[in-house]
Amino acid sequence: MRKNLLHIWHNELSYEIREIVGVAYKIRSFWREIFWENIWDPVAKWEQVPVWIKDIVREALNHDEVYGYCPTRWLDKTREYIASKNPKITKDNILFFNWLWDAINKIYRSLAFDSRVIGPNPAYSTHSSAEAAHAGTSHITYSLDPKNNWNPDLEELENKVKYNPNIVAILVINPDNPTGAVFSREVLESIVDIAKRYNLFLVFDEIYEKLTYEEADRVLLSDIIWDVPGISMKWISKDLPWPGSRCGWIEVYNEEKDENFKQYIASILSSKMLEVCSTTLPQYVLPKLYESENYKISLQERILKYKTRADLAEKILGWMQEVTLIKPKWAFYMSITFNMENVNTTHIPNIKEYDIEKYVTDFLSGVTRFDKKFCYYLLAKTGVCTVPLSWFNSTFEWFRVTLLEEDEQKFIFILEKIKEFILEFKK
Ligand SMILES: Cc1ncc(COP(=O)(O)O)c(C=O)c1O
Repeated sequence: MRKNLLHIWHNELSYEIREIVGVAYKIRSFWREIFWENIWDPVAKWEQVPVWIKDIVREALNHDEVYGYCPTRWLDKTREYIASKNPKITKDNILFFNWLWDAINKIYRSLAFDSRVIGPNPAYSTHSSAEAAHAGTSHITYSLDPKNNWNPDLEELENKVKYNPNIVAILVINPDNPTGAVFSREVLESIVDIAKRYNLFLVFDEIYEKLTYEEADRVLLSDIIWDVPGISMKWISKDLPWPGSRCGWIEVYNEEKDENFKQYIASILSSKMLEVCSTTLPQYVLPKLYESENYKISLQERILKYKTRADLAEKILGWMQEVTLIKPKWAFYMSITFNMENVNTTHIPNIKEYDIEKYVTDFLSGVTRFDKKFCYYLLAKTGVCTVPLSWFNSTFEWFRVTLLEEDEQKFIFILEKIKEFILEFKK
């Protein structure tokens, strides 16, 4: 090519959760059964999509408008419905997106290049990659501390904000992926306070808000934001088992409190207009789905199931010297951190099948992170497909499993496999 084609941020784009799938497919082709523990997909995990959801969607298909374009901001009725649940907003403070990457990307891309959003570390990579891509340099982070129940280091956050005038916003993911943390009102109020004192806006990714094990833990940005400008992200792919709907929205708070923030939100709307509109069908059925009695019942049932799975995982793995397991406070991910002082990082697992052994060894040549090697060898030896978490912009050596497995016996079987494999690395 006469000029380099690559954008400065091409290295920032990776998604290990899906990249490991390519390797799993290859290993499956050598006749190894795969146990998918890498991603939240209830359908792939055999969770039946409830009949009441299918009935509502089926009925909607009789209406011609679900096949058409809809307004850029989304269907009026749906926005009115959402606004009716939250006294802090009107329908004009709601803007729909095709999926959260669409929202995440537009929120960062619409900022001036040198205006930065500080986010948590470990970071959910869709945010950290998109923010880094917008700035053309690494994402700026504040630490979540595993020794303090994954709470944010507020002193570090404030210092970074104080000494870097380019930071214009704080990103909070609450409930948090991948740590499983849910932050207390006190912690969240301290973050709002920092934003207020340094004249920042807030971005809260709250897509898991309805999935906390305890209802009392649910503190939303709209409960505590006071008069600080902010954006909350919502999404129907998690509390409804319909991730393929690719349908989410943002709620904007206190837009009128700052002229510059208001213009910024207007610019996000303008960039949405270039796409005309988001998917019509999921937004059309959204009020009906949320208002259904079945929704509340099935949500409770699912939360209970995930909580039971978390208890089980703690029983099987929680005692081990080689790892620390901080039980999640919400839904379906669980992270397991290696206690590096108790782990033999040079151990190479023995894989009997020559083809698999050769493939994975070649694949891992040049890889230095222990958690990555652990997860790929675990996959090669046992078929259990997890996600190495150092990829979450993180310095820890750790990995993530889901709590989704429908069949309890199979879940125990998977955990036992993981346990045996961890023991191989005993020092
Ligand atoms: C915090 C957070 N935000 C956004 C998303 C994006 O959701 P989806 O995978 O449905 O696109 C995820 C997905 O896991 C997430 O954990």
